Amino acid sequence: MQGLHASLAGSLKAAVNAVIDDGAFCGGPHVQRFEAEFAEFVGARYAVGVQSGTAALMAALHAAGVGPGDQVIAPTNTFVATVGAIQAVGATPVLCDVDPHTLLMTHATAVAHVRPQTKAIVPVHLYGQLAELNGLRALAREHMLVLVEDAAQAHGATDGARSAGTFGSAGCFSFYPGKNLGALGEAGALVTDSSELAEAARKYRNHGGTVRYEHDTFGLNFRMAGFQGAALSVKLKLLESWNARRREVAARYRNAFAELPGLRCVALGETARREPRAHVYHQFVVRVSAREEFRSRLSERGIDTGIHYPTPVHLMPAYRHLKQPEGRLPNAEQAAKEVVSLPMFPTLSDAQVERVVEAVSAVAKELDGGE
Ligand SMILES: Cc1ncc(COP(=O)(O)O)c(C=O)c1O
Repeated sequence: MQGLHASLAGSLKAAVNAVIDDGAFCGGPHVQRFEAEFAEFVGARYAVGVQSGTAALMAALHAAGVGPGDQVIAPTNTFVATVGAIQAVGATPVLCDVDPHTLLMTHATAVAHVRPQTKAIVPVHLYGQLAELNGLRALAREHMLVLVEDAAQAHGATDGARSAGTFGSAGCFSFYPGKNLGALGEAGALVTDSSELAEAARKYRNHGGTVRYEHDTFGLNFRMAGFQGAALSVKLKLLESWNARRREVAARYRNAFAELPGLRCVALGETARREPRAHVYHQFVVRVSAREEFRSRLSERGIDTGIHYPTPVHLMPAYRHLKQPEGRLPNAEQAAKEVVSLPMFPTLSDAQVERVVEAVSAVAKELDGGE
């Protein structure tokens, strides 16, 4: 991402200077402008800027009335913040398995966890791929559940009609610097079509009120910094082109790896097979059973890889109290042992992509031949 910021340095510095000139450091006009632009970008009526994706999830859940005594279903194959936010608003996370092919929560993996106490479901558009929302929306409708999307990795993913974040009561985004749309530090936002939910979230991020020293409801300080709003406005203009480049790189990888022995690309769901823009490739993830050997051989060839994520949330010490022991959510547990994220960012050059393709192909063949 270094190269990406270097090419934008002039506009980012001008945006930061404008915040200094206006003295608008906490919330204020630069955040409001970004909120309007981001709401328009995703096709929602309102966006509420906050300090992080975690804060966006907390604000959305709280504003949707989720709290103590409620159960909230979320996938165990996610970044831990999805689950932390549920616990932070006082609700009980109920973790569900994921589809063995897409590694996303679906109606089929969530339905068995619905109880009378279930108040909400939080599908995660993990790796940048839209979860299959038709089934999940039907589940929410049938059981009168709140649907909050964790779209922290899926800025701009669309099924052609709607964008990630606009399928339920609210959608939550992270602008952590490494995300498809990243700030110059921590930031996040939620989007919604509900004026009541937006108003409740605005209060929650500002000590429970929108007028100074008037506190109508419980709230904390989750305001977005002015610098971040200003920087995000600059970067939002380029998001579509960055997502398009990510998809181009992904298409090359998919094509090159289709026949490789011992390696599988994480499968596309039905929506992404029909509509390529349904995946914005925050990560490009493959599965390899000899993962550690695969990664270390790639590393010897100068290719860095990641793991998203090495431990499903239900097996983390922090969430042992949820009493979902090993073996209970087998698809996610198996995936956690095999997933590898390959280099994926919009500034990858064609030559760099070819280096990755050559190295991955060579290592997969070596491992297959027992070398
Ligand atoms: C799926 C998911 N949910 C939530 C978050 C939390 O966002 P943040 O790091 O901005 O708090 C992240 C980002 O790290 C994420 O990837």
